Amino acid sequence: MPSHLIAVVGGQYGSEGKGAIAAHLARQYHGGRPTATIRVAGPNAGHTSIDDNGTPWPLRTIPATAPVNPTERLLIAPGSEIDPTVLDHELTILERGGHPVNHRLTIDPQATILDPIYIEEETALTMHERLGSTGKGIGAARAARIMRTARTWGDRPFSGDTVAAANDTLDMGGRIIIEGTQGYGLGLHAGHYPQCTSSDCRAIDFCAMAGLNPWQANIDRFTIYVTIRPNPIRVAGNSGPLHGETTWDALGLPVELTTVTKKPRRVGSWDADLVRAAVQANGGAPTVRLAVTMMDHVHPEIAGWAGEHKIEDLPIKVRTHIWDIESDAGANVYLVGTGPATVMEVI
Ligand code: GTP
Ligand code: MG
Repeated sequence: MPSHLIAVVGGQYGSEGKGAIAAHLARQYHGGRPTATIRVAGPNAGHTSIDDNGTPWPLRTIPATAPVNPTERLLIAPGSEIDPTVLDHELTILERGGHPVNHRLTIDPQATILDPIYIEEETALTMHERLGSTGKGIGAARAARIMRTARTWGDRPFSGDTVAAANDTLDMGGRIIIEGTQGYGLGLHAGHYPQCTSSDCRAIDFCAMAGLNPWQANIDRFTIYVTIRPNPIRVAGNSGPLHGETTWDALGLPVELTTVTKKPRRVGSWDADLVRAAVQANGGAPTVRLAVTMMDHVHPEIAGWAGEHKIEDLPIKVRTHIWDIESDAGANVYLVGTGPATVMEVI
């Protein structure tokens, strides 16, 4: 079995449904070889996966694949920030919910501890309003790490070398998913500075946080799923430009709220330039594959569809929409989200 490194990244401004895509990929059998998911960056993003009982798991620190594949190894990368309170909460609810994780979780000693001071610093700076930041202290923690004042995870519980664990998995012909956060358009150098996040958001950036090189010898295949949605969103507030900004009402869709502050998210129109830029920044096809989520919002007739479908067998409107997306983006669509818990494969 060839080893396979997969990166799941966002192609817009976050909340594209990366959790659902990572969960779908983690359900695929990999020839009985070991599999692991690596969570990178900080708990400013919630990735939602839905387990086999239909329970949603919005996770901010533990990989979103944890509740869907009981044998998946769970790694938290050197380039991640950990809020111990969030971690404790997730460990407790997952254990209680019938998804034990203690025996398969490893946290790299190099990970940064997200101390409360960083959250206070960001709140004091009102970055929250000023920059559309999620105000979770990640930027302040990264600034402290660069100044060498931040604390690292060290020998706290679950401590272990996650880079070595990932390499062992690859050496055995295994499969690794790197679960990226946020989206290309929020990247530190992607053009919207200062209304952006505190890192870039391409697969190469997340690989670096995970301590892996896509070209290293023990990786036989490298695939990037750039996850996009028909109507991109931005967080509420002064969060930066949004092409063809519209309203949930005008789209006939239920209002989406930000996870923490519960304010309505801003919603935009399809932005071909943004998606094309995201595909190019991630290296382009064929390494880049598109995963289009929330297609059930636009085409209710495919809600709940799963399994493999030939493109020519899809309803004409869906087929045409997919072709338009592919031509705008310069990459092919492989996965289509048809509901919070369902993904169909287009072949
Ligand atoms: P960030 O890292 O925070 O940017 O988020 P994300 O990309 O991981 O998105 P998240 O997993 O939080 O997904 C956003 C919401 O959309 C969640 O409530 C998902 O359950 C839901 N969702 C994902 N895919 C689909 C889909 O295809 N259809 C519908 N209707 N909902 C979906
Ligand atoms: Mg989210």
